[in-house]
Amino acid sequence: MTGQPAKENFTNGLFADELIFHPSSEFKDNANIQDSRIYLDAEENWLEYWNSQASKLSWFKKWDFTLQWEQCFAKWFVGGSLNVSYNCIDRHLNEGRKNKAAIIFEGEPGDSRVLTYQDLYREVTKFANVLKDMGVKKGDRVSLYMPMIPELPIAMLACARIGAVHSIVFGGFAVESLRDRINDAGSKVVVTTDGGYRRGKGLPIKKNVDKALEGNTSVEKVVVVNRTGAEIEMQEGRDLWYHQLMKDAPIGCPAEPMSAEDMLFILYTSGTTGKPKGVVHSSGGYLVGTSSTFNMVFDIKEDDIYWCTADIGWITGHSYVVYGPLANGATTVVFEGAPNYPEKDRFWEVIEKYAVTIMYTAPTAIRAFMKWGDQWPAGRDLSSLRLLGSVGEPINPEAWLWYHKNIGKERCPIVDTWWQTETGQIMVSSLPGINATKPGSASMPLPGLEIDVVDPAGNPVPAGNSGLLVIKRPWPGMLSTVYKDPERYLEQYWSRFENMYFTGDKAVKDKDGYFWMLGRVDDVINVSGHRMSTMEVESALVDHPAVAEAAVIGKSHEIKGQAISAFVTLRDTHTFGDELVKELKAHVATKIGALARPDDIFHTAELPKTRSGKIMRRLLRDIADGKALGDTSTLANPETISGLKENYTE
Ligand code: WTA
Repeated sequence: MTGQPAKENFTNGLFADELIFHPSSEFKDNANIQDSRIYLDAEENWLEYWNSQASKLSWFKKWDFTLQWEQCFAKWFVGGSLNVSYNCIDRHLNEGRKNKAAIIFEGEPGDSRVLTYQDLYREVTKFANVLKDMGVKKGDRVSLYMPMIPELPIAMLACARIGAVHSIVFGGFAVESLRDRINDAGSKVVVTTDGGYRRGKGLPIKKNVDKALEGNTSVEKVVVVNRTGAEIEMQEGRDLWYHQLMKDAPIGCPAEPMSAEDMLFILYTSGTTGKPKGVVHSSGGYLVGTSSTFNMVFDIKEDDIYWCTADIGWITGHSYVVYGPLANGATTVVFEGAPNYPEKDRFWEVIEKYAVTIMYTAPTAIRAFMKWGDQWPAGRDLSSLRLLGSVGEPINPEAWLWYHKNIGKERCPIVDTWWQTETGQIMVSSLPGINATKPGSASMPLPGLEIDVVDPAGNPVPAGNSGLLVIKRPWPGMLSTVYKDPERYLEQYWSRFENMYFTGDKAVKDKDGYFWMLGRVDDVINVSGHRMSTMEVESALVDHPAVAEAAVIGKSHEIKGQAISAFVTLRDTHTFGDELVKELKAHVATKIGALARPDDIFHTAELPKTRSGKIMRRLLRDIADGKALGDTSTLANPETISGLKENYTE
C-alpha cells in the first residue's frame, strides 16, 4: 500500500472525506489473483466458475450437475462424493506437507503445541475410531462444547471423517443455551473439557454440561478432555476421559465417502425469534465455498502463518480457522486466550512469537486496542505481517486507519469481509492484489456472486442510496436449510423477495460499486461481533419473577459496536432498584451467557407500543442513542415516551 492515501472527490455526500488505498506493486505482483478478468470470466459463466473451484478439491466421485435449484432449496455438486476430513488432511500428506504445521496452538497460560499434518492425521483418525466405537454413525449428531484447544478441530474433523454431524456450541454460552442446542440437534455424544481458562480464571465447562443434560436427553456419552485439571464429577457409565479413550484407539480410519449434499454441520445462530436456528451446511458446497474464498481473499502462500482470532464456536472459526485453511494445506493458529491477558499486548506477542503473516480479526477488538494505546503493538515485532482482515460488523474508518497504521505499518492491505453464518463463506470483500480499498467499505462481491441493494419492492436503488442487501443467485457455501425446519428457512430468507435471499442487512452501493454495510434491519443485534436476537434476551428477562414485560435493543457502543439496553415493566410484587438491576443482569448471564448481559436496564411503567400491540423498538433505540425521535404517530400510548426519555437521561 502506498503510505499516502489519495483523496478522491466523492459526490454522494454520505462519505464526504473518502480515502482510497492501493496495494503495493510488490503485493500485486505476488498475489494469487492478479488479473481482474476473474470477475468477468466468473460472470460470463458462474456455474463453470464454481466447477473450476470445485475441481481443486479431491473428489471420490465427480459431480453430475453443478447446481440443482428447486424452489429456493439449492443442491450443489449433485452426484459428487467427497470427504471433508480427507480434503483437509490426507491429500496434503501426499503433497509434501506431512511435516508442515497444520495447527499452531497457543494456550491462554502460554503453553504451546504444534500439530503437523501427520500429527493431525493420527489424532483425527484415532478419535474417529473412538466415536465409531461408541456407536456414532453417519448422520448422527455430536455436540462440541469446548474452549479453543486443538481437540476441538480434531473432534470436528473426526466427525467429518465418519460422516457424523457436528454442532458446536460456543464455550461462552451458559446452561440453557447449551441445553436448547443439544436438544434441538438430538445429539448422541457431547465432547467437552473439564474446564477452560478466561483471563486467568476458570470456566465451569463440564459443570455446564452436567446441568444441561439434567432431565430428558438424547445424549448417551460425554467425552471429557482434560484441559485445566479442574475438579469435576464424572458420571459413571456416561462420562469418559478423552485421553483414556485415545490411548488404545488405533491409528487410521477410512474417510467415509459423503455425497456433496450430506450435512457437514449444524451451527445455531440467532434470528428474529427467541429460538435459535440450526443453520445446516453441506459437505461439498461448503468446502468449495470456504476453500476457494480462503485462497483468494487471504492470498495464502505455502509458508504463510495465518491467524484468525475468532472462536471456533462461531461461523468465522468454522470456515476460516478450520475448514478453509486446512483444505488449503495452510498453517492455522489456534489461540485460546484473550487479547488483554496477561497484558494488553497478548495478540502482538503471539504475532511476534510465531511470525504470523496474515491476521484476521474483528473491529470490536481493533477499537479496544485503539483505546488501550499505540504503545502495546509498538513494543512488539510485527514485521512478519503482510495482510490484515476484518469481519463481524462494519469497521468504522477510524478503526480501519488505526489498524492500517499501527498493525499493518501502512504496508499490509486490509480485507474487510462481509458474510454470515448462513452464507458459510465470505461474500463481499476486496481481492487484496487487485482492488483498491476504501476504509469502512467491504468493497465488492467476490467473483461468481450477484449481490445488490434494493428498495422494499425489490428494485435496485440508485448508487449512493441505502437499501436492503440481497443475494440474487445461489452460491456453494450457502446454508442448505434450517435444521428440522425447512419452513423457517423459506420464511426467513426467501419470503421477503421473490427469488432473492434476504440478508437482514442494509447497505449502500457507491458509484464505484463498493458496498458500505450499515448493520441489521431486523431484531438481530451485534455485540462485539457476537450475534444475538433481542427476543432471546427478552425471554430471559421475562423469565425472572419480577419482570412483566421487556424490550431489548442494541445501543451504539464505542468498543462493542452495540451494547444491550433493556427496558422492563415490573410485576406489582416487585420494586425497581440497584439490587434488582444486578439480579436481572446476572439472570440473563446465567441463562444465555455473559455475552448477553445487558449494559443497562431501565424501568418503565409501560413500553411504547403500536395500536396492534407491537413494541416499537425503533423508538427505544432512538431514545437510547439520544436521537431525535422519528414518527410517533402510530403509537398507542404516546405518553410513555416522555417518561422514558426523562428516565433515560437521568
Ligand atoms: C454483520 C459473521 C459489516 C452483518 C461472519 C451480518 C458485517 C452479520 C461484516 C452476520 C462486515 C459481518 N461488515 N457487517 N465485514 N461481517 N457483518 O452470522 O450484519 O455471526 O449480517 O456471521 O454480521 O453475523 P454472523
